[in-house]
Amino acid sequence: MTIRPRLTVIGTGYLGATHAICMAVMGFEVLGVDVDASKIEKLSAGAVPFFEPGLPELLTKALESGRLRFSTDFQEAAAFGDVHFICVGTPQAAGSEAADLRYVDSAVTTLARHLTRRALVVGKSTVPVGTAARLAGLLRELAPAGDAVELAWNPEFLREGFAVDDTMKPDRMVFGVTSDWAEQQLRTAFEPVLAQGVPVKVTDLQTAELVKVAANSFLATKISYINAMAEICEATGADVHDLAEALAYDERIGGRFLRPGLGFGGGCLPKDIRAFAHRAEELGVGQAVGFLREIDGINRRRRARTVDLVVELCGGDVAGKRIAALGAAFKPNSDDIRDAPALDVAATLHRMGADVVVYDPAAMDNARRVHPELCYATNALDAARDADVVVLLTEWNEFREIEPSAMAAVVRRAKIVDGRHALVPASWRAAGWEYRALGRPIVPSAQGAQ
Ligand code: UDX
Repeated sequence: MTIRPRLTVIGTGYLGATHAICMAVMGFEVLGVDVDASKIEKLSAGAVPFFEPGLPELLTKALESGRLRFSTDFQEAAAFGDVHFICVGTPQAAGSEAADLRYVDSAVTTLARHLTRRALVVGKSTVPVGTAARLAGLLRELAPAGDAVELAWNPEFLREGFAVDDTMKPDRMVFGVTSDWAEQQLRTAFEPVLAQGVPVKVTDLQTAELVKVAANSFLATKISYINAMAEICEATGADVHDLAEALAYDERIGGRFLRPGLGFGGGCLPKDIRAFAHRAEELGVGQAVGFLREIDGINRRRRARTVDLVVELCGGDVAGKRIAALGAAFKPNSDDIRDAPALDVAATLHRMGADVVVYDPAAMDNARRVHPELCYATNALDAARDADVVVLLTEWNEFREIEPSAMAAVVRRAKIVDGRHALVPASWRAAGWEYRALGRPIVPSAQGAQ
């Protein structure tokens, strides 16, 4: 039997905490490391500091097994681990489209200084292509063990809300390596995952780095493509919902990521396409991915057009009007509000003078912290009380289950903007609502038609 390597996971944010917990559940000895002592304290006490279905139960299980510990000490990490996963964030840099690499650089530099024996450092963070080669140089230069420390790249494709499944049984694994030894170490570290038949692509460092940004760019392109079609539908009275369904029957196109609406947000897609375009320009091949700026532009326009539609339903001015905003998270089953289209729309309407009341099933605390100027309700019906317009901004199942007549009874005017194409228009119209969704034809409500 192969001896299982001991793992460290540097950075215990969304990606790192999930990775550390899942690897411990799969039978590895794992040490999670972070510079943020409060995060380490919470995780050690069995609390997951963000919303992710299924993860709290797995953290409890991993801690009880004795295989998972957390620490802020890099020296301890270096002494403990055979394979070190770098899972720190790479946010968009302030005032630039580039990725901010300071956390990656600092994690690798700090760890390297303590590496006195053979080890594999594995980057999982999303980075501009070329970063891995630079980090490999840093490791060689700074690690007391010198060439005995190698770098590999293993991009992570996990989606929020599905993080556990995506980690335990991903669609594919990508190993960017420069030696057979590194490949073997990764195969051993992911043995329980690979044993399920998950395909693995072994490649060089730069291709591995690129797979991640290429995948996210493709997904963003697909979403913006259908949203561009929505704009055409708006100009012609065609229905983007039917159009997307008809396109999806073509297996070459497929229906996933072809949902029209308010567009993409979150901590990955928006910043990744910007950082990719920026990096391509640095490399002198900006033209090759110039279309990503269009993709970003189409996506930003969805937010503005949603605001415009609410303004239209308010008769041309939202000042003094009460707007119920259903949703704050960038997508359902998440409390993440990073670059959330929902909050962007809510905050813009507030700035225009509307009285905006927000409700989200999971992201209220985060939303309150960043947008204290907005009002918050404890459920959808309370948010809708006396509203002039209700606008659905995040497609939580809870909102799909709203009884249109029950909500009609509490609003001032029964007008709804379905920013996510999540509702069944006929049921809302039958209950007397004026139902509007970008890219869908205007049909009078049952009452309006009478
Ligand atoms: C994404 C990638 O899917 C994942 O592989 C990568 O590792 C990180 O980035 P995530 O940000 O968790 O994951 O969310 P995802 O489910 O991809 O959704 C991104 C955004 O696109 C959300 O705002 C969602 O509402 C929007 N979206 C998605 C659409 O507007 N339409 C769609 O058809 C699909």
